[in-house]
Amino acid sequence: MEGAGGKPTAVVAVVTEPRFTQQYRKYLEKQKLLDRQHRVKKLRDGTVALPVLREVLLEQHLRELRNRVAPGSTCVLTQLLDPVPSKKAQSYSPAQRLCLEVSRWVEGRGVTWSAELEADLPRSWQRHGDLLLLSEDCFQAKQWRHLEPELWETVASALGVQRLAKRGRVSPDSTRTPAVRMLLGDHGWVEHVDNGIRYKFDVTQCMFSFGNITEKLRVASLPCAGEVLVDLYAGIGYFTLPFLVHAEAAFVHACEWNPHAVVALRNNLDLNGVADRCQIHFGDNRKLKLSNVADRVNLGLIPSSEEGWPIACRVLKQDAGGILHIHQNVESFPGKTLQPPGSSEMEEHWPSPQQIISTQLKNGAPSDSRRKTLSVATKPEWQRWAEAAETRIATLLHQVHRKPWKTQILHIQPVKSYAPHVDHIVLDLECRPCPLVD
Ligand SMILES: C[S@@+](CC[C@H](N)C(=O)[O-])C[C@H]1O[C@@H](n2cnc3c(N)ncnc32)[C@H](O)[C@@H]1O
Repeated sequence: MEGAGGKPTAVVAVVTEPRFTQQYRKYLEKQKLLDRQHRVKKLRDGTVALPVLREVLLEQHLRELRNRVAPGSTCVLTQLLDPVPSKKAQSYSPAQRLCLEVSRWVEGRGVTWSAELEADLPRSWQRHGDLLLLSEDCFQAKQWRHLEPELWETVASALGVQRLAKRGRVSPDSTRTPAVRMLLGDHGWVEHVDNGIRYKFDVTQCMFSFGNITEKLRVASLPCAGEVLVDLYAGIGYFTLPFLVHAEAAFVHACEWNPHAVVALRNNLDLNGVADRCQIHFGDNRKLKLSNVADRVNLGLIPSSEEGWPIACRVLKQDAGGILHIHQNVESFPGKTLQPPGSSEMEEHWPSPQQIISTQLKNGAPSDSRRKTLSVATKPEWQRWAEAAETRIATLLHQVHRKPWKTQILHIQPVKSYAPHVDHIVLDLECRPCPLVD
């Protein structure tokens, strides 16, 4: 989400001789015609151009200027192609600018501006290059309907973009498809560059979470050279790509059942030059045919990836085992924080991606010596969920491989706050088959 804005490419201005500037300004201000967002400009021929609100300006205003306000003045209209924002406009936040420009435009269309309309304007949005993705909870009042589609041009212009889309709810099914509708522009394809990786996708068909950047950075820094990874919920490649490009995984099996995400994933693998190290398994991962191949499994589905746990256990290498990265939304309650031994008060922020939570070892298994661990606080609910997940997975591993396995909680990584008191976290769970004893 962001709050940056832009400026329109052209404004309309009334041109007159410099000696009439003050009379013109006074009249235009009084009539609420003056565009306060842009500066008055001196033109090459010595005349001045006063930016005006074209939606409310009538021929009759021009006549009045010419005949009554400043008799004898030249009064013509022009377009200023590169208008300079006024000092006042520069100090506005994008949301304020949006409010100002939309309210003026709406009034120019004869609709009364109201507190209800103002409260219905967007306060935050996702910017994807020249496309702005508005959240679901704005432009819901009935009055807007009569103002479409031109309204969207005013909104886009106020926020400095060419295309506009509006989000509905992320579908409750596991495709996590966002019900996104284009308001302005003829397609929803956008491009992002994150940590040197290019992602292209259609915002109307695939989801993108800016909040997962911490986890993308973290997986990029994992030591995966020579490893085979199974990404059970690959999407457009949010994790598959950092594993391949930065963590140097030797090969990734990427599972995805949303055909639009698969198109984007294939394209993104090509764009980043790693298509030869990835096999896409299109379809429901619960029907995946693979087994006994993986050193690592990524289970990036929230609110829970639990349905994928049996598959994750099955694809792990039978003789060597590996590491699971299990995403989960965990509910917790304010005020409770587990302090690791020797740590001081926990600050009110999450650790950076590089900070890793070390938790107590279970089953006497050795720690992953390649990892740098840093003790920071975790919430008791996270710890409890992780322990329950560990127990469940140890049971599944035993069932799937018909022999006992050791499991060990390596880390619990907070990714983002998903909702009040709900945190998206990742559990790194090491799973190793127990050595056979004679
Ligand atoms: C949350 S998105 C993944 C995005 C990434 N993990 C993230 O958090 O940004 C989950 C992806 O898993 C896919 N998916 C969910 N259930 C699946 C299943 N049973 N088989 C294959 N793909 C599945 C969805 O289509 C979606 O693209």
